[in-house]
Amino acid sequence: MSVGPSTRAIHAGLPGAEQGAPLSPGPVFAAPYHLQGEKDAAPYGYGRDANPTWTAVEAALGALEDAESVLFSAGMAAMSAVLEPALGAGDVLVAVRDGYPGVRGIANDRLAPRGVQVRFVPTETEAIVAACDGATFVWVETPANPALNVCDVAAVADAAHAAGARLAVDNTLATPLGQRPLDLGADAVMYSATKGLSGHSDLVLGAVTVRDPEWAAVLRKHRSQGGAIAGPFEAWLLHRSLATLGLRVERQSANAFALARFLRDRPDVLAVRHPGLEDHPQHAVAARQMRQYGPLVGFTLDGAERAQRFLAACELVAEATSFGGVHSTAERRSRWGTDDVAEGFIRFSAGCEDADDLLADVERALQNC
Ligand SMILES: Cc1ncc(COP(=O)(O)O)c(C=O)c1O
Repeated sequence: MSVGPSTRAIHAGLPGAEQGAPLSPGPVFAAPYHLQGEKDAAPYGYGRDANPTWTAVEAALGALEDAESVLFSAGMAAMSAVLEPALGAGDVLVAVRDGYPGVRGIANDRLAPRGVQVRFVPTETEAIVAACDGATFVWVETPANPALNVCDVAAVADAAHAAGARLAVDNTLATPLGQRPLDLGADAVMYSATKGLSGHSDLVLGAVTVRDPEWAAVLRKHRSQGGAIAGPFEAWLLHRSLATLGLRVERQSANAFALARFLRDRPDVLAVRHPGLEDHPQHAVAARQMRQYGPLVGFTLDGAERAQRFLAACELVAEATSFGGVHSTAERRSRWGTDDVAEGFIRFSAGCEDADDLLADVERALQNC
């Protein structure tokens, strides 16, 4: 039966009906499993290599993109598992410079010392395409947070493939319900499941989704060798949370868009960034390749001090990093020193509150700061 994405997210990875069995089996806590005879006599032998709770949530994540998913202990572990086995001395990595800074850390501190040549480019389709010549691997994040620039995944995939390179997309912001990069030609999709996939700000996990079973085997081997594995309880929480992914993404996207429109009309807000706004420079591309625009809005207030006063004046919005949770959060992004944004730039992650309450809180905070 062909079903919609929210339906899939609710049912994916759960066992079929069995008399007396739970609808949602609990986590399996195990280090060794009974394994008699040959090493492959059972699907589970040792807890660093495989776990039934991972199997279930991986099946669910894979089903959301008609692909195979591999779960990791964190988004950064997932990112490392994609990039490190794929790149060696003499290879060329093209990576965006305005997305999550973790990829720049891996490129500069782990890959470059091994002889990988790194080309950083802005999240602009033409710039990425132009840099693909001679590339081995291309890494993009779209929309790239925090500035929310967008690139055309299909055009970048074509250019990467023409150069003989593979393309990975960090799809943390959009989640598979907002955007399906594999359908647009990407070879791998990486998630910080810490964000919208789990959505409750209570765990750290990561995942990679691919359609090439051989690549999935490489990712699993990297996980076993490096030991960047998910705890069964966190894996189970993630699976449990996927059931509400459709509801959460829809509400967060609607709230973020409403907030972006509200902020755009305020004279005391210097600039607003949201891929759904028609004045976003890549709005047409975003509208074509995204189903939902996700929880983030970027906006600029006049200076760091006003931005900090705004954050302190919000009552419903927690000043915190990360994004994609059911509770709205916001932070002055330049406090980290890693992103090229104005001192007064705020990355706002809209939660699932009632839109009227959220807008009223933001309006009150703007008036009082
Ligand atoms: C877009 C993006 N990718 C990757 C990561 C890294 O994920 P994690 O913190 O789960 O290791 C983050 C974390 O903030 C992120 O925002």
